[in-house]
Amino acid sequence: RKAKISSLIERYKDKVSSLPMNVDHDLCKYMGFWHFHGFWYHSKADFSVEAIMALQDHFEPQPTDIFLASHPKSGTTWLKALAFAIMNRNKFKTRSGSRPTHPLLTISPHDCVPFMESESFLNNPSFANGLMHTHIPYTSLPKSITSSDCRIVYLCRNPKDVLTSYWHFLNKLKDDGSTPTRLDDAFELFSRGMSPYGSFWDHVKGYYKASLEQPRKVLFLKYEDLKKNPENEVTNLAKFLGNPFTEEEEFDGSAKKIIELCGFENLSKVNKDGKQTSKVLSDDIYFRKGIVGDCVNYLTNEMIQTLDKITKEKFEGLNISF
Ligand code: A3P
Repeated sequence: RKAKISSLIERYKDKVSSLPMNVDHDLCKYMGFWHFHGFWYHSKADFSVEAIMALQDHFEPQPTDIFLASHPKSGTTWLKALAFAIMNRNKFKTRSGSRPTHPLLTISPHDCVPFMESESFLNNPSFANGLMHTHIPYTSLPKSITSSDCRIVYLCRNPKDVLTSYWHFLNKLKDDGSTPTRLDDAFELFSRGMSPYGSFWDHVKGYYKASLEQPRKVLFLKYEDLKKNPENEVTNLAKFLGNPFTEEEEFDGSAKKIIELCGFENLSKVNKDGKQTSKVLSDDIYFRKGIVGDCVNYLTNEMIQTLDKITKEKFEGLNISF
């Protein structure tokens, strides 16, 4: 862990250049999934396929490490905040019960829980403090993670809302003067599985199957369930993370306090000034509406029907519904 994996990244450049590419969309295919690759994305964010390869070959987790995983735009920011708040709830508690010094009141959840396939993480993996996040598909995770006792929490979201959220996000990134992406183009690529970390459906399936095979290792959560019944989901999450709420905490409404602290309203307020703590992306870019079903305001009926059909086919025989 102490070795700087980032110094190894150069070694993977040749391997990456031999991968199938989609140059028009800055994507390359690695182990069955599409990944960002190209100058434009690299000017926006500090993650890369090379970083995934370096992690696969060199990352050594501690048995107590916890990995949060998600497909982009599935509610990663929310999951990071919730897991961080659960794991650190005693550290930031004051006697009066208020949390004036809580990091989530001043900094982005992305600065509390590092993103693994980024150069900043590779340069300093120890800053993770046992809690980290990845978008890497389950089948591409470093074997050192899948074959260890580490726990993984996966957050999944309705693909129609994921696409809607992603399209808005992409065009916010393109505020730099780049040509905006049309919704029908984004839809076309997403439904063909050609989105970053896509196909979306294979991404979800990988973690879902792992959660069935190893329920003590992989917890599968849904954004929609978190919205509908946050107390139940947060209580389960705390249990899974090995940090269940005590009777006293239950009496005290600890779960409710965490839900409020990590709620869209609070986090979007804290991060609304758009300061850039983490590299290139500003903190407010991760907050838009935070609701379920916003896709109906953007996608056509035909797009909705197509995505529903793909979801039905891809998830056939699996108990995943939205
Ligand atoms: P919308 O674009 O639909 O509003 P990610 O964190 O994986 O990038 O996902 C971003 C999506 O999660 C955005 O969805 C964002 O608004 C929503 N989100 C961010 N923080 C949230 C929170 N605390 N509660 C609910 N949704 C949240």
